[in-house]
Amino acid sequence: MSKRFVFHREALARSILEGLAGAGILDYSSGLFLAAPRRTGKSTFLREDLVPQLDAAGWLPVYIDLWSNKQADPGQLIEFAIVSALQAVEPKLKKTLKAAGIDKVNILRTVSWDLTRGALPEGATLTDALQLLRAASEKPVVLIVDEAQHALNSENGLNAMFALKAARDAMNQAVQSDGLRLIFTGSSRDKLAQLVLKRQQPFFGATITPFPLLGDDFVEAYTRNVNDKLADKNSFHVEDMKRAFQLVAHRPELLASIVQRVAIVLGEAPNLGRLLEDGAIEIQADIRAEYEAIYGPLTAAQKAVLQVLAESSIQKTSFAAYSEATITRVREIAVALGSDATPTAQTIQAALEALREKELVWRSGWGAYALEDTGMADWLSAQCSARRE
Ligand SMILES: Nc1ncnc2c1ncn2[C@@H]1O[C@H](COP(=O)(O)OP(=O)(O)OP(=O)(O)O)[C@@H](O)[C@H]1O
Ligand SMILES: [Mg+2]
Repeated sequence: MSKRFVFHREALARSILEGLAGAGILDYSSGLFLAAPRRTGKSTFLREDLVPQLDAAGWLPVYIDLWSNKQADPGQLIEFAIVSALQAVEPKLKKTLKAAGIDKVNILRTVSWDLTRGALPEGATLTDALQLLRAASEKPVVLIVDEAQHALNSENGLNAMFALKAARDAMNQAVQSDGLRLIFTGSSRDKLAQLVLKRQQPFFGATITPFPLLGDDFVEAYTRNVNDKLADKNSFHVEDMKRAFQLVAHRPELLASIVQRVAIVLGEAPNLGRLLEDGAIEIQADIRAEYEAIYGPLTAAQKAVLQVLAESSIQKTSFAAYSEATITRVREIAVALGSDATPTAQTIQAALEALREKELVWRSGWGAYALEDTGMADWLSAQCSARRE
């Protein structure tokens, strides 16, 4: 068994459970969309806290990580997870199928449910499968799709999202309003927003909830854990750790890497706080240097397009690639960068294409754009202000 330190966030899991039940002020019965930056602890929370609490409360959690295999089709990954959950209730499945009188299950009797292939039988939809799972497990199903934005990259993935929406609508009717709950998480708010922003998108009208970052209580527990392994006279102060954690944007791994570096020189360190802060500042500088190295060689048009994408990310507005407003803004920025060419819609298209090849820009299946790394938006915005000064 690994002794990895995990800070449990029980209260957060409890409040999500309440929201799923729709009992309190929060109501997530039509879907919960959680977004937080990379490496801030989303998956850990889902696996270590939410899934166990759902289990304990009598829900049936089905967890799917769409990044678990980047080559695999997201639609298939979702199907596979549901089939695996069905396999786990197989004995009851047969009984459920035999039992007469359950309307919703009747249609399911027309297909044969051989699950050994890891796929749904021909003619069965995700709604059928989820209804069967609900009936056989006798538990409301909570489907948790981690890195859900990945589904938007392919036609099949998008179809699966529409299928999940259809399943939700079918299973949350008045008679049995707790049939299915959907939780989607993603490391890019801008990408996740593509599921909810426009009328044509599957979850139009839903809101994106910021997933709370790990805070002081995490740092306190982590500091205790680290200090337990150190000699009494060498211990870290919570306040210093909190400051370093803030500087590394609430990412546990980065804090741990600084602590490890500092621990090496521990014996001779009179001021651990200072060392922690230096380590954090160094990490920030590394991140900035990386952005600079990427940004520097870009053409003025590419820089300008990137900048406009960053602005819409910060303002939480959707980016319309070829609108008048975008073209005007791209021109302004290109001029400020010293370019004498006048960017047009074609220039923007070519720039977006080049930025996509460099993996700086992401494009959804239907042509919506977002920054690959939302962290870059703040850096770009700082660059822009620096130019104005
Ligand atoms: N509650 C926690 N207690 C201890 N360590 C944590 C906790 N949450 C996250 N971490 C650590 O932080 C790192 C990132 O966690 P995790 O993979 O859960 O983040 P994520 O937001 O899902 O990242 P990604 O964007 O890559 O999907 C891991 O090394 C994990 O061990
Ligand atoms: Mg994750």
